[in-house]
Amino acid sequence: MRTQVAIIGAGPAGLLLSHLLHLNGIVSVVLESRSRAEIEATIRAGVLEQGSMDILNDAGVGARMRAEGALHHGVEFAFGGRRHRIDLTELTGKAITVYPQHEVIIDLVAARLAAGGQILFETGEVALHDTDSARPSVAFVHKGEAQRIEADFVIGCDGFHGVSRPAIPTSLRQDFQRTYPFGWFGILVESAPSSNELIYAQHERGFALVSTRSPTVQRLYFQCDPKDHVDNWSDDRIWAELHGRLENDDGWKLNEGRFFQKGIIGMRSFVCAPMRAGRLFLAGDAAHIVPPTGAKGMNLAISDVKILAQALDDFYKKGSEAGLDGYSEAALKRIWRAEYFSWWMTRMLHTFADASPFERQVQRAELENVVASRAMSTALAENYVGAF
Ligand code: FAD
Ligand code: DHB
Repeated sequence: MRTQVAIIGAGPAGLLLSHLLHLNGIVSVVLESRSRAEIEATIRAGVLEQGSMDILNDAGVGARMRAEGALHHGVEFAFGGRRHRIDLTELTGKAITVYPQHEVIIDLVAARLAAGGQILFETGEVALHDTDSARPSVAFVHKGEAQRIEADFVIGCDGFHGVSRPAIPTSLRQDFQRTYPFGWFGILVESAPSSNELIYAQHERGFALVSTRSPTVQRLYFQCDPKDHVDNWSDDRIWAELHGRLENDDGWKLNEGRFFQKGIIGMRSFVCAPMRAGRLFLAGDAAHIVPPTGAKGMNLAISDVKILAQALDDFYKKGSEAGLDGYSEAALKRIWRAEYFSWWMTRMLHTFADASPFERQVQRAELENVVASRAMSTALAENYVGAF
């Protein structure tokens, strides 16, 4: 099999890249290890920056997002027994949209298949070859048959645990990494939203977050031990923890309902640089991870492939390699700002078991500063909506 661009991974990065290339007349094949049903049902991120929405709209895949996504003009911070609103739109002129990642995946898969795009689901034993030459290839097994795709470029969009990043020799890349001593317990609940806007809560018992998915589903998270197991948490214990961390005496109450999904995710910051070796390029989680507190993961995947699609278009239309040569540096500039913001939000909002009394006091003072100072609220809002 031969194609122009072989893409490994059908997450937001791989699918959107394939779609953007198609809009420019560039042919790609996407290899995905899981089934279509699985990728369309995996619950992950929920927040889209305005810039990500613009990219999806411009690419013609934003109709359902515009109809079903919820536009949020502000975000709340709860701590010290009070809630404080930061008006994102007043401070930045921009907003965010809550539209679940698996819905983005459903929209992108539909668009690729409608255009005759090739996504090979349930591929196994994916292996990259000759990526340092002008004739790279990818070997894999599909429907029990060993196959090989020859391509001009191989793009690794296969997430943090994929095979693409390890294909870049460690002598050619540097990994920057930080693992956090806590995780997030994530829950989907059948109930009306408790709040029109997201609530990020700092509490001595640990961080908690109220988000939504639809008028009948809430998405809730709370800080937990990353090694804990969901079976250790009865419904009553979860509700007690959430009520304790989120409610105060202002009368606001968290709506309860039936849980229909529970999971624990670990948290890390990670960057691999450069994001290229020869004809192999990395995009999205394959190259970088952020802790979810800044809601940046899916947005970074989208902004990476926007830059990469333009660079590949310049290569095919103008014969220019300038965009490809500059991809890593251009993408990393935005990535490091998002890494910084996600680390800062994580540090400011979570309870660190080993923090000294002094550190706990200055952590609280930082939050007080963020909500009291228009300059600091603006800095948070600009980073949150991705206004750069
Ligand atoms: P992915 O979405 O990971 O897609 C990679 C794809 O590659 C997958 O479909 C995978 O099956 C496939 N793949 C992997 N290996 C191979 C292989 N060898 N061959 C073929 N295919 C392969 N971000 C937030 O901002 N907020 C959140 O609440 C949040 N929650 C998350 C929860 C979880 C459990 C995880 C893992 C991530 C979460 N994120 C969150 C991060 C966000 O979802 C990611 O940043 C985003 O999915 C990145 O998109 P991607 O396309 O780069 O990678
Ligand atoms: C959601 C996830 C996040 O990581 C975040 O910071 C805000 C919202 C969500 O899943 O809705």
